[in-house]
Amino acid sequence: MQNISILFVCLGNICRSPTAEAVAQERISKRRLNWLTIDSAGTSAYHEGALPDQRSQEAGIARGYSFAGQGSRQVTLDDFDVFDHIIAMDHSNLRELSRLKLQKPTSKAAIWLFMNETIGMAERDMPDPYYMNGFDNVLTLCEEGVDKWIAFLEAQ
Ligand code: 4NP
Repeated sequence: MQNISILFVCLGNICRSPTAEAVAQERISKRRLNWLTIDSAGTSAYHEGALPDQRSQEAGIARGYSFAGQGSRQVTLDDFDVFDHIIAMDHSNLRELSRLKLQKPTSKAAIWLFMNETIGMAERDMPDPYYMNGFDNVLTLCEEGVDKWIAFLEAQ
């Protein structure tokens, strides 16, 4: 496999994209996917430097995932030169990434919605759990999505 890098992006980088990152990190370790590099970021700087949300961590740790080393950061224009795939957790963040990409004409990154038909899921937003709860549901969707993303990338 050629090396591939992906960046998961949500609004705050404390709930949804850190959960996707934790699941992907577990798959990378367990399956020794050393061709795959991952990170996560937020379109906002609301929680810059913060650890993943306690509720996301509790849901994830209960299923054996680790959030070690994670901390919120805002997406940068440099990310568009660094990552092969930038994956938005919902349409609102997808729109913001598309807007940012226009400011980076050299970008090599492909911009995607996390749940989409290309990877074999119905196109939909990852629900924002911050005010609504549903952290277990986010985790389950991240597990399904990350596994489908890995299968999709392995088939390239
Ligand atoms: P995330 O969730 O985008 O999944 O990290 C949110 C975190 C913070 C806020 C909204 C969503 N907020 O408004 O501060």
